[in-house]
Amino acid sequence: MKSSLFFALILLAASASHSQTSPAASEAERPASVAAKAAAAPAPAPERKPDVIFVPTPQAVVDEMLRMAEIGPKDVLYDLGCGDGRIVVTAAQRYGVKAVGYDIDPLRVQEAREKVRIAGVGHLVRIEQADVFTLDLTGASVITLYLLPQLNLRLMPQLARLRTGARILSHNFDMRGAKPVEVRHVTVEPGGDGDFFVDEDGNHTVYKWLVPWEPEQTAP
Ligand SMILES: C[S@@+](CC[C@H](N)C(=O)[O-])C[C@H]1O[C@@H](n2cnc3c(N)ncnc32)[C@H](O)[C@@H]1O
Repeated sequence: MKSSLFFALILLAASASHSQTSPAASEAERPASVAAKAAAAPAPAPERKPDVIFVPTPQAVVDEMLRMAEIGPKDVLYDLGCGDGRIVVTAAQRYGVKAVGYDIDPLRVQEAREKVRIAGVGHLVRIEQADVFTLDLTGASVITLYLLPQLNLRLMPQLARLRTGARILSHNFDMRGAKPVEVRHVTVEPGGDGDFFVDEDGNHTVYKWLVPWEPEQTAP
């Protein structure tokens, strides 16, 4: 809980202070080949400011999210706010499933497409520029999120329309009013890839829900 609050405050503060066109705080942390290619072909500015800045999920946490998703061959995964595409690329590489990454920021879309190309998973993965709040998500059986608590809340009406048995995995942030079926903690070595914002104990949390989720009593 302490970690989630810490991450939410950091992401909120960083999102508020970033302009529409400024690169993510963790730009320097990305692999040079991907960052260089993205820089070579300048992307247009987003149509509107992203609701949260790009902070990548550390690979160890991506791996845990995908393990918890219990992915089968017929699954289709959507990552809402896909950043550099690491979740969709890992899902395709490890599990051979179809995946779609959506991001509102054209720079992230460019980077993610480049990552898909380098990984050779273009036959499985699509990257689309879109505002996640406008999407019909019913084509997905697995959804991954690393947004903010209030953005997870805003997505709930769309997520509630997913098919029975669909899995939702969220890095660090819960969905108030929805009881998770599983919560796991991952400790990440400070200073690793995607570990730009780390709290003092390096802890990350992954929440899992099954659709339809059980309501959770929350304090008024
Ligand atoms: C914290 S990053 C997570 C990136 C990736 N999912 C991961 O876990 O590594 C959030 C991403 O959401 C994107 N984003 C913010 N608001 C969005 C919106 N309304 N629609 C689509 N993407 C959005 C940002 O551009 C950013 O890349």
